[in-house]
Amino acid sequence: MHIDIVTLFPSMFVGPFEESIIRRAQEKGALSVAVHDLRLYGVGPHRQVDDVPYGGGAGMLMRPEPFVAAVETLLDRPAFRGAGGPPVDLSTLPPIVLLTPQGRLLTQKVVYELAEHSRLVLLCGRYEGVDERIRRYLATDEISIGDYVLSGGELAAMLIVDAVARVLPGVLGYERAAAEDSFAAGLLEGPQYTRPPVFRGRAVPDVLRSGHHERIARWKREQALLRTWKRRPDLLARQHLSDEDQTLLARLQQASGKIEEEG
Ligand code: 6GU
Repeated sequence: MHIDIVTLFPSMFVGPFEESIIRRAQEKGALSVAVHDLRLYGVGPHRQVDDVPYGGGAGMLMRPEPFVAAVETLLDRPAFRGAGGPPVDLSTLPPIVLLTPQGRLLTQKVVYELAEHSRLVLLCGRYEGVDERIRRYLATDEISIGDYVLSGGELAAMLIVDAVARVLPGVLGYERAAAEDSFAAGLLEGPQYTRPPVFRGRAVPDVLRSGHHERIARWKREQALLRTWKRRPDLLARQHLSDEDQTLLARLQQASGKIEEEG
């Protein structure tokens, strides 16, 4: 997977991409990231990237030319779907994703979808927004990371790189780790413990140290169901539960208050 990021603030990406999973993914050759400075594609001697909005209004908007020049340079092919311009074959173009609070919400499903591609282009908007022609004729997708406003798409782009990197084959090493995650399985994970067995009077639940694999598995499933029901009933509602899960959950709900959620 190769990810191109177009931003006015390339130095923001230096630290986060040199650590942990993203670093490991790059070292293993599963991921490469290129950060492109939008300023280099600015208009005129001042390398202008923004301008006042037509029709008035507060703040500045990002002009279309720098984003288009940056993307067409890094892809080495036409990408802007202009009128009368060269044809753009969307089916052979990598996703060109504009990061914007107006985009579709990022979920684990979207992460897996992005990870299917061999290349991604992420466009980081800034200021009060971007010229409509960027979203309409250059971007092929728009993604938001949640219902709040960030000052730019950079943090969202980093977050996408992290989430995509960790599901690429060979990155985690422990292949099942990603699949077993909360959300991948559709449920929140239940409580987990490591050593010591007792810390300041607080003990690890007996069942986890019982060595009884069947009971442990059932307890984990029960705790995951209980936690999801209590914290994210919306996730549970979308989930297809087995008959056994439904029985378990019904029992938990009936006993609610009596069975304590761990953690
Ligand atoms: Cl992708 N960009 C900005 N600026 N704000 C956001 C966002 C993106 N997602 C949520 N809020």
